[in-house]
Amino acid sequence: MNVIVVAAECAPWSKTGGLGDVVGSLPKALAKRGHRVMVVVPRYGNYIEPQDTGVRKTYRVDGHDMEVRYFQAYIDGVDFVFIESPMFHNLEHNIYAGSRLDILKRMILFCKAAVEVPWHIPCGGVCYGDGNLAFIANDWHTSLLPVYLKAYYRDQGLMKYTRSVLVIHNIAHQGRGPVDDFFYVDLAEHYTDLFKLYDPIGGDHFNIFAAGLKSADRVVTVSHGYSWELKTSEGGWGLHGIINDNGWKLRGIVNGIDNKDWNPKFDVHLKSDGYTNYSLETLHTGKPQCKAALQKELGLPVREDIPVIGFIGRLDPQKGVDLIAEAVPWMMGQDVQLIMLGSGRPDLEQMLRNFENQHNDKIRSWVGFSVKTAHRITAGADILLMPSRFEPCGLNQLYAMAYGTVPVVHAVGGLRDTVKPFDPFNETGLGWTFESAESGKLIHALGNCLLTYREYKESWEGLQWRGMTQDLSWDNAAQQYEEVLLAAKYQW
Ligand code: GLC
Repeated sequence: MNVIVVAAECAPWSKTGGLGDVVGSLPKALAKRGHRVMVVVPRYGNYIEPQDTGVRKTYRVDGHDMEVRYFQAYIDGVDFVFIESPMFHNLEHNIYAGSRLDILKRMILFCKAAVEVPWHIPCGGVCYGDGNLAFIANDWHTSLLPVYLKAYYRDQGLMKYTRSVLVIHNIAHQGRGPVDDFFYVDLAEHYTDLFKLYDPIGGDHFNIFAAGLKSADRVVTVSHGYSWELKTSEGGWGLHGIINDNGWKLRGIVNGIDNKDWNPKFDVHLKSDGYTNYSLETLHTGKPQCKAALQKELGLPVREDIPVIGFIGRLDPQKGVDLIAEAVPWMMGQDVQLIMLGSGRPDLEQMLRNFENQHNDKIRSWVGFSVKTAHRITAGADILLMPSRFEPCGLNQLYAMAYGTVPVVHAVGGLRDTVKPFDPFNETGLGWTFESAESGKLIHALGNCLLTYREYKESWEGLQWRGMTQDLSWDNAAQQYEEVLLAAKYQW
């Protein structure tokens, strides 16, 4: 098939979280399966590889004609297309900067331009037109794409053979606004209802995700667990009614990982500063060397016997940083080291810094985002904590397992799907899970994990071995996406 993946971010050019990683790697896996694949993202910076295609188009946003230009690069079998407009300039380091309305206008321009890409930009040397084509839109930012495809084209008898799939990476962000926002999306009056919730708390509002979910031919979310949670009133964040109604369209597909980038055997960030690449065969020497290098780099006492616990994530209540904070006094009573990396809410950033100051021999807080440090923590730590309150898929636990680092997670969404709890009687499982977002539960799970680390070396090695030998690649997920695309095409 011809597939166009449309998103607000794409690694390595633009990434604030897992969405960027997925958009950077799923298309390559689809291309490997023989599909013609294009990725369309905004051009936030002066990226090196993509070249100006010379194509110029104009779209109307908020009463102004805006010219867009299209840049293109062909990498690993995929055409990456970047839409350039002054509206995207200077956003390289903060792609969601600006007011709610600024972001909305950017996404309107982007989706209007993206939906016409198959007519203007050749992929693999030919323009798609509307033949055998499916768009994959991602999260609320590109939820207008299925809406425009429907309203501007399919409802007019155009692009009859083009389908759209909308992927939910996180339902908590929905593109909500006052009803007046409908004016900006530039649609005929009778489309207003698409943007409404069934039972809005606090009165009517405008909701882009709602319109996308109703308009798309199929909906995917990034784990089975999350596809269930989305249908509940706690997990659907107001959209559960719409999701239940469209339940037949929804499928959960667990994300894969890029096993070139995130592979301890080839990881480029382990090639210097005392780190080393390792694999299952060299785990015994390679991982301790990475641990020592991490301790040294961060100025912690270099000790092989002390368990190193890592946390990597946005500093935001979703990620359960506050649960870690509550568990810190208990942890500091243990012989452990704790390394945390992340940026986000200023008060949580300050909290991390305070922890480091108070427990300088045991805690390191790296406030900010550093891809290199994320890789090095994943390699050097023994344990990765992920106490997220909700987690549609989660990638860090997958990266951790690939590196022989044992995850301790709150059993929600994708974390429940991917981290089967350790069973000491049968020597099965991949890590520790706890059932409710409470620091007491986290402490209990982490306590059992530390006990196993200290007292049961063989069980620990079994956990590492099972984690590292899983197939976490995108191949499996890409095959399932293909099934969804085919189902949309033939509408079964
Ligand atoms: C969002 C979700 C995360 C998921 C990622 C990629 O960031 O919060 O759980 O792994 O998208 O799908």
